[in-house]
Amino acid sequence: MARTAVVSGGGTGIGLAVAERLAAQGDDVILVGRRESVLAEAAAKIGERATFAAADLETVEGAVQVLQHASERAGRIDVIAAAAGGNAAGKVPEDLPKGFERASWAWTANLRLNVMTAVHLVEGLKPILNDDGRIVLFSSIAAFRGSGSGSYGGSKAALHPYAIDLSAELGARGITANVIAPGYIEDTEFFGTSMTEERRTMLIGQTHNGRPGTPADTAALTAWLASPEAGHVTAQIVQTNGGALAGR
Ligand SMILES: NC(=O)c1ccc[n+]([C@@H]2O[C@H](COP(=O)([O-])OP(=O)(O)OC[C@H]3O[C@@H](n4cnc5c(N)ncnc54)[C@H](OP(=O)(O)O)[C@@H]3O)[C@@H](O)[C@H]2O)c1
Repeated sequence: MARTAVVSGGGTGIGLAVAERLAAQGDDVILVGRRESVLAEAAAKIGERATFAAADLETVEGAVQVLQHASERAGRIDVIAAAAGGNAAGKVPEDLPKGFERASWAWTANLRLNVMTAVHLVEGLKPILNDDGRIVLFSSIAAFRGSGSGSYGGSKAALHPYAIDLSAELGARGITANVIAPGYIEDTEFFGTSMTEERRTMLIGQTHNGRPGTPADTAALTAWLASPEAGHVTAQIVQTNGGALAGR
């Protein structure tokens, strides 16, 4: 019988690659994001295994909408991949005075965008997660080395103990909970228009294999962590960054 995977951020970038990969191997996938048109396009690309629920996971109401869709569509689910997120630090309103007000805005926004979207999705779906289920959260290399403002890396780092506690809570049922922490991944909406050629060259230069990561790299790792054979790998933070964090 096909498994059902709920993938937040499933309309673009890493989440879309995860959904494509899981659907290609026979799973039904439910894509979650805020933009209905983006989700509809992604679901059409994936084909009949995909449905979508447009919802803002920063809110409890959004998580309830996802739970309703998943319950109606599948009854119970097997995989939660919480890829929704991003770096809100670059979106601080121009009219905020510099200093602590800007820092407060960035921290609050990043905690909502990266922590609460994952918490709402997982806690909302927990009641319908099957035994031997799989939970994959998405952190970042920034959780280990910072990213300029503190708030993005700090919000991602908060997911690490959350996964460990989920693993301890649900492990007796055969459910695993892990975190993937990617380095620089191209072909996503993550950087918007902010990436410069100079910064791209610098980020690729930090890797040992001399290339950027791709959404497919992260999707392959996610698919393995979500597979039945990965049942003894849990409470782990797994990095995929071409060696960038280790340095030369
Ligand atoms: N790209 C990288 O280099 C990189 C590196 C390390 C970690 N990551 C992490 O990888 C994950 C995937 O990012 P990506 O690189 O694939 O970037 P992306 O293309 O911008 O994907 C982020 C997704 O999250 C969704 N999303 C954002 N806020 C949401 C909300 N409140 N409710 C529901 N969905 C929401 C977005 O869709 P809507 O806008 O339609 O809601 C979008 O599909 C993120 O957690 C990111 O922090 C990325």
